[in-house]
Amino acid sequence: MLGQFATGVAIVTTVDGNGGLLGVTCNSFTSVSLDPPLILWSIAKSSLSGPAFTDGKPFAVNVLEASQEDLALRFAKSGADKFAGVAWHEGFEGVPLIEGCAAYIECRVDARYPGGDHEIILGAVERYVNQALDPLLFHSGEFRRFS
Ligand SMILES: Cc1cc2nc3c(=O)[nH]c(=O)nc-3n(C[C@H](O)[C@H](O)[C@H](O)COP(=O)(O)O)c2cc1C
Repeated sequence: MLGQFATGVAIVTTVDGNGGLLGVTCNSFTSVSLDPPLILWSIAKSSLSGPAFTDGKPFAVNVLEASQEDLALRFAKSGADKFAGVAWHEGFEGVPLIEGCAAYIECRVDARYPGGDHEIILGAVERYVNQALDPLLFHSGEFRRFS
């Protein structure tokens, strides 16, 4: 139904209460407001990472670069140790930023809203880095690149 709406692909990362690194592949990300800067994305209620995104928690939207399809697939698998062998550095409040991404949008959870089998997470943007690299795209159930 929505396959004709092309999107980018991001990995949303955070840290849980025990210092564990969490990451979820996401294409529901979109902008909401410029002033103040707000974004949103939705997370499935079935996602193990969901409870970590409580009000006020920092998280990062790692916008994937065109060659990072393998990372998109890795972070789309529930529960596994997704960060094993993945290069990253610490961002805002210790949230992992994955190396080589096209952009990093560092946020704090501003609010959560019910959305059927998902929850909508509204994020207040704290920091933004644009690496000016070509993004990975998702369309009609497949990863794509600009040609
Ligand atoms: C291209 C793509 C986009 C996805 N977008 C979302 C999304 O926006 N929200 C979501 O909850 N899951 C999305 N998923 C599925 C999650 O990445 C997957 O369920 C997640 O890794 C669950 O991990 P967890 O149970 O360890 O939290 C997407 C998967 C792919 C391949």
